[in-house]
Amino acid sequence: MGILFHEQAGIFKLDALDTSYIIGIFDDEKFVSHLYYGKRIIDSDVNYLYGPLVRVRPSVLPGQAGRIMDAIPFEYPTYGCGDYREHCLEVETIDGYHACDLRYESHKIYPGKPRLNGLPATFEKEEGDCNTLELICRDETLNLKVTLLYTTFEYLNVITRTVLITNENAAAIYLKRVLSGCLEFDHQNFDVLTLHGSWERECGPVRTLLRQGKVTTGSTRGESGPTDNPFLAVLDPAATEDTGEVFAMNLVYSGNFLGVAEGHHFRGSRLVMGINPVNFSWKLEQGESFTAPEIVMVYSGQGIGKMSRTFHDLYRNHLIRDVYPGTPRPILINNWEATYFGFTYEKLIEIAKEAAKCGIELFVLDDGWFGNRNDEMRGLGDWFVNEEKLPGGIRRLSEEINDLGMKFGLWIEPEMVSPDSELFRAHPDWAIQIPGRHRSLFRHQYVLDWSRKEVRDYIYDMIHHVLSNANVAYIKWDMNRTLTEPASASLPADRQGELCHRYVLGVYEIMGRLRDDFPSLLLENCSAGGSRFDPGVLYYSPQIWGSDDSDAIERIQIEMGASMCYPLSTIGAHVSAVPNHQTGRITSLETRGYVAMAGTFGYELDITRMSEAEKDAVRRQVDIYHKYNHIVKEGDLYRIGDPFENRDYACWMVVSKDKKEALVTYIQTHALPGYFGASRKLRLKGLTEEALYETTVISVSAEVRNEDVHSEGAQNSQKTYDSLTLSGSALMNAGYWMERLEGDYMGMMIYLKAK
Ligand code: DGJ
Repeated sequence: MGILFHEQAGIFKLDALDTSYIIGIFDDEKFVSHLYYGKRIIDSDVNYLYGPLVRVRPSVLPGQAGRIMDAIPFEYPTYGCGDYREHCLEVETIDGYHACDLRYESHKIYPGKPRLNGLPATFEKEEGDCNTLELICRDETLNLKVTLLYTTFEYLNVITRTVLITNENAAAIYLKRVLSGCLEFDHQNFDVLTLHGSWERECGPVRTLLRQGKVTTGSTRGESGPTDNPFLAVLDPAATEDTGEVFAMNLVYSGNFLGVAEGHHFRGSRLVMGINPVNFSWKLEQGESFTAPEIVMVYSGQGIGKMSRTFHDLYRNHLIRDVYPGTPRPILINNWEATYFGFTYEKLIEIAKEAAKCGIELFVLDDGWFGNRNDEMRGLGDWFVNEEKLPGGIRRLSEEINDLGMKFGLWIEPEMVSPDSELFRAHPDWAIQIPGRHRSLFRHQYVLDWSRKEVRDYIYDMIHHVLSNANVAYIKWDMNRTLTEPASASLPADRQGELCHRYVLGVYEIMGRLRDDFPSLLLENCSAGGSRFDPGVLYYSPQIWGSDDSDAIERIQIEMGASMCYPLSTIGAHVSAVPNHQTGRITSLETRGYVAMAGTFGYELDITRMSEAEKDAVRRQVDIYHKYNHIVKEGDLYRIGDPFENRDYACWMVVSKDKKEALVTYIQTHALPGYFGASRKLRLKGLTEEALYETTVISVSAEVRNEDVHSEGAQNSQKTYDSLTLSGSALMNAGYWMERLEGDYMGMMIYLKAK
């Protein structure tokens, strides 16, 4: 396994678990070309893969060089020398010329995985997990060195890629487009899978047919954004959740990005992904380097489900630093949907007291605790506590919360400034703006120029002060607007195109400092919900608030969509009040609990207004979470009922790694008449065929079902479920009966334990 160089054939063979990825140094011309990606093959001398290309090499037919360049499957295609398909690199010399032609120069193969300068990236956990190939290429005319970095993972079908560009010329050069990598295929018989949505509707899978032409995904918002997630996959048109080949890319980056799947005129296809070239430019002086963000490439020969499970394993073990390893993260209660800005010290304590009695472990104070932040019009940037609202400050509040036996957490939105703030009055030039042009407000706020060190340091020092003077176990880092009129007062004209990337690097630097200075702090990211749900952010914070839509039924789609790439343990999910504040829908407390338990689990409601019966149900949910969260946090996810395809039900299950336990969640989203017509037998997945599993329906207590005002009229409480013992083969092939539940939005959870 690992990485081999077949010198005679000029071929690099990269193997990752059951995957092979083959690169060829084509011809005397030394083009770095792509030969194969897919299920593992054993041969290494595979020159035949060049096919007809060997007969039309540019050196033999120089007159046709342009046309031939357009046919070569390149590892890192460039603009300007005859390849007209989507390219990864475009440069501009100080004379204004745009052309680059890369040829192989040398290479290095070594165990392990290098860190990327200033950027988040997956890492080797234990020695022997990874092997790395550095392919050094050069454009002789420009004296530009381009190092392609590939890392294979021994135990996962994962190969990561990135690129390092170094200017070895005396004159400066401008990078106009630097994508992180490319994938080439010799056919275009694919579907393309991407994740799209909007605010409160993040991560919806979209599957489109690839033909000649392009399918694109991307962002120019300054963050990865809610409309497009940095994920792009091509798959066999017949591929399903459980079968067929899938080739996926996910960019470890939280800013402007671009992903393109192109079916090109020689009937092949190409995928590229990286920083969005829109308003991007990076000046490299002599000797300077630029590092592009990492692409994670996953191959699955067993459908979309296996692709997801591979991403999940990679991110849990090689990207996320969990501050609660091996144990469930604390169940939190957040006051946002309980009080919005209208809280008092006493109200917060009342909520915390009731929450503590129910076993909730972490109290999070959301927006509104600082400066004159009494509504969303003002106060951002003034990170000092509002003592009028919170006499005694964060220290007193956190101590009182701690005395209740709970941890304390706090909301911040450090990248922003309100026009009505002390910070803005003192430093109006610290906000991103173009001189002489109207500065757009979004949610009554501006974005601070985090490309500037003095701005970052100032904000960081304020936050550091708050955290050092109270016992803060958790931070919710929010970001509620996008970048507009992008320019920096500190950058010269020919570097303005660097702002958006420098901004993201600034965000990473501060998140990294926070993590280093407060190693036990649990950091949850949020961007108006899931607008910055990407692997870049996950490197710093093990969980991200999934969406501002907390409606359980909507959330099923959002969580299952996010689970395409991201582990359930990363998806921030709370039980909120009914009627739901976003949709007005009423769902039972149980169902809200089941859906939130498919994420990080917490509450976001005024618990003081719950009935005793409801609080009993909360206590029961807390117990269920503690009993079963290890399966959700560490197990393998299998999506069963596709919530995007059918309106009647959703179903998913998580199986522990040793396959001895599993947790099935079933939500009937649309009630049907008649016991027989409305019951359905679903085939479970991921179990051991021969093992015998005892199945137990877990439910909130019967009394609570009766008294739960929101499930009034429901008869389920009367139902008792017999425990069954069935083999994995029966459960997976014949299926498990999901009996009709009484009413829309009812759900159940089934625990499977191998005997
Ligand atoms: C947007 C977040 O997504 C909400 O959860 C909440 O924290 C608000 N911001 C506070 O302003």
